[in-house]
Amino acid sequence: MPKNISLTRYLVEQQRIDGHIPPELRLLIEVVARACKGISQAVNKGALGDVMGTAGSENVQGEIQKKLDIIANEVLIEANEWGGHLAAMASEEMDSIYVVPNRYPQGEYLLMFDPLDGSSNIDVNVSIGTIFSVLKKAEGNHGVEESDFLQAGSSQVAAGYCVYGPQTTLVLTVGDGVAMFTLDREQGSFLLIEENVKIPDNTQEFAINMSNMRHWDEPVKRYIDECLQGKEGPRGKDFNMRWIASMVADVHRILCRGGVFLYPWDKREPEKAGKLRLMYEANPMSWLIEQAGGAATNGKQRILDLQPTKLHERVSVILGSKNEVERVTAYHSGL
Ligand code: AHG
Ligand code: MN
Ligand code: MN
Repeated sequence: MPKNISLTRYLVEQQRIDGHIPPELRLLIEVVARACKGISQAVNKGALGDVMGTAGSENVQGEIQKKLDIIANEVLIEANEWGGHLAAMASEEMDSIYVVPNRYPQGEYLLMFDPLDGSSNIDVNVSIGTIFSVLKKAEGNHGVEESDFLQAGSSQVAAGYCVYGPQTTLVLTVGDGVAMFTLDREQGSFLLIEENVKIPDNTQEFAINMSNMRHWDEPVKRYIDECLQGKEGPRGKDFNMRWIASMVADVHRILCRGGVFLYPWDKREPEKAGKLRLMYEANPMSWLIEQAGGAATNGKQRILDLQPTKLHERVSVILGSKNEVERVTAYHSGL
């Protein structure tokens, strides 16, 4: 497709060429994109818009909510609840699912989001983002319940994120590769900057929070230790490290130039499978990464094959350039 076409045209073409985006899904993606424009505006205003700092509340995961976490959550709900395309929504910032109110028609899609990813970076003007994942409700005339959301990531029908960085860029998959759109503020539209994004199979760049090293499990220690040994070690090459502490920004870099991202299980809270959330962080990111030719596992299994048991389930995440992800995964099986 020609560069610089609008997201709207891209979606219409997708609908025409492949017929695999129904009109309701196209509308849903457009509405999410519109909400991201609103969030981008708020992010850009920063202290001038009274959006910095904490809101004085905690979410269901016990994390202190920032004002922008709550603003972004509200923007997404208000934008999506009335269009008739959704049955319900779920978010990192809400304890339970949000069923579309009776005054609006109910659609068949389920939308999940991390409204503001990388919250610790808001107040220091570093890239943050919004992550979203779309599922379809099972057929049948029943109401909608949390159990409708508990589908493996391989059932997603659309997934993406919007990164609020030097540019605001929306990255999307509907199962036909990965496309990137940058917000043109004069036009007020997202314009296509790249399609068929591909991640190189090999990389010399890893992303992990090194301060947790003493808490890691052996396979992760071994992998990072070998990277750190550089040219003189078993890998025979030097590695570079990056850690932005916004998964959106780290994944965006990996989609642009390759790399491997790890947020593994560790011994700080051994009863938790990891820090990141399966349904609205790991699943959408893993699908994007796979669609770009990369891989994503929890060390043992493909993330997209995991059967969720609860909405806010956590997971260990290793994703990015295929050969590195396969290596870390092999180390977990003792190879
Ligand atoms: P959120 O702001 O939505 O809670 O997510 C933050 C996540 C993720 O974006 C990032 O990779 C990770 O937390 C950073 O964690 P550390 O501060 O432990 O490095
Ligand atoms: Mn997050
Ligand atoms: Mn968040």
